[in-house]
Amino acid sequence: MITGGAGQLARAFCTLLDKANAKYIALDIDKLDISDIDELSKVCREYNPDFLINCAAYNNVDAAESEFETAMKVNYTGPKNIATLSVEHKFKAIHFSTDYVFGGRQLYIPFKEQDETAPLNKYGISKLKGEQIFLEISPKNLVFRVSWLYGEGRQNFIYKLLQWSQSRNEILIANDEISVPTSTYFVAMNALEALDANGLFHLVPDGYVSRYDYAKFVLNKLKVKSSIKPVPAEYFKLPARRPNFSAMDSTLFFSLVNREKKHWSEYLEEFLTNYKF
Ligand SMILES: NC(=O)c1ccc[n+]([C@@H]2O[C@H](COP(=O)([O-])OP(=O)(O)OC[C@H]3O[C@@H](n4cnc5c(N)ncnc54)[C@H](OP(=O)(O)O)[C@@H]3O)[C@@H](O)[C@H]2O)c1
Repeated sequence: MITGGAGQLARAFCTLLDKANAKYIALDIDKLDISDIDELSKVCREYNPDFLINCAAYNNVDAAESEFETAMKVNYTGPKNIATLSVEHKFKAIHFSTDYVFGGRQLYIPFKEQDETAPLNKYGISKLKGEQIFLEISPKNLVFRVSWLYGEGRQNFIYKLLQWSQSRNEILIANDEISVPTSTYFVAMNALEALDANGLFHLVPDGYVSRYDYAKFVLNKLKVKSSIKPVPAEYFKLPARRPNFSAMDSTLFFSLVNREKKHWSEYLEEFLTNYKF
């Protein structure tokens, strides 16, 4: 069972599961609100899943500053409910968290799972509380921290960048925010390979990049001739603070599954080559 079934990560799972002829059901908020434990319990009884992959989330980082309660309902109460029911109904639950649980660092050394968390914004706090309660209730469950997801859909940086390139004469992008662009297919494929694992893992490709260089890479590859200028993140005066550097290190996960991982740019190039914008 996939929750948050209309989101970009859920869609990657559905595509891969379709290809594998797997039996699954994907439900979005209109059919199943993960913050409602009674509804969730009813759906779990009805479908009796072996696995529940929670792709549902409140992801609006800036709005979370003023809508913390709503963010907590989805990002904390949701995973708490799912973990509780995973024990009761004996299914394995998989959940996703974020690099925004980290507060940044001056030395560019990617964060490992055991590194200290220090979220700078309310979205990060809600996601950190969510992953903690999820594994506290059942350490047999599985959490992947991912960053800067892109895939099919509109809720991602690549889509927004292409919109800006059509509507603005000059695109301003922060050059002091660094992390790892991560394909939803990369996440879904690797997660499906590791359903037997338990605990917390970082799941991103190798390397890291600033938002500005990421944007330049996308525009160059798609041959979009827009003027683009680097600015400090502070310039945008956004409600939520972001870490300057939140790249993560996935060595632990890849030593466990013994699979190949490539540089973020290779996955991105593949995506940009094949995706019909
Ligand atoms: N996107 C990123 O860059 C990023 C970075 C780091 C971590 N993550 C994490 O990765 C996971 C997948 O993210 P994504 O980018 O695929 O998210 P997404 O595209 O925003 O999808 C999330 C889905 O969950 C739905 N939803 C919201 N509240 C719900 C509720 N109470 N019950 C059921 N469904 C609900 C949303 O519906 P509505 O659209 O109608 O609200 C949306 O369809 C999330 O855990 C996210 O926090 C994402």
